Amino acid sequence: MLINNDTIIKDSDPKIRQISQPVSLPLSKEDETLLRELYQYVEDSRDDEKAKEFNLRPAVGISAIQVGVPKQLTAVIVDEVDKNGNEVKYKYMLVNPKIISSSVQKAYLENGEGCLSVVSEHEGYVVRSARITVKAFDLLQNKEITIRARGYLAIVLQHEIDHFSGVLFYDHIDAKNPYPVVEEAIVI
Ligand code: CO
Repeated sequence: MLINNDTIIKDSDPKIRQISQPVSLPLSKEDETLLRELYQYVEDSRDDEKAKEFNLRPAVGISAIQVGVPKQLTAVIVDEVDKNGNEVKYKYMLVNPKIISSSVQKAYLENGEGCLSVVSEHEGYVVRSARITVKAFDLLQNKEITIRARGYLAIVLQHEIDHFSGVLFYDHIDAKNPYPVVEEAIVI
């Protein structure tokens, strides 16, 4: 499948609101190929030259519904600095990721979120859980995994898993109060 900024489904298309279904394991060839293509998109989109040449909008994640396939598949690549100041690269090809626990403490991105399927600007804080635990099958490691995510990774995973319910980041923004004061929230 050709995945680029022209083929990615935008929020003007009602399909983006479709519910994504769990995928059966072991993966069919078709599902595996799609998940690898989604991952390749994210990887290539982070390369300035490839992004320009192939019309890729830079991304940290993409879910299958964004290419019109309502299945619980998502690819994520997030660079972060850990508490020791070391650079860490979190890379996943997730099948049926499920949030099994969420912290009460909240977190949000200071500059708001973006999405490959959203063209127009939506200003405001997208308040999410600061820490989550996710269970999934990861095709990259070829096994069931548990991710204990915090910081930016936690935000990205919640954003991608929201796509399975047809939820877009701006659905979380209250237009009347786009910049709420959230007690003890972590600002990223
Ligand atoms: Co998105």
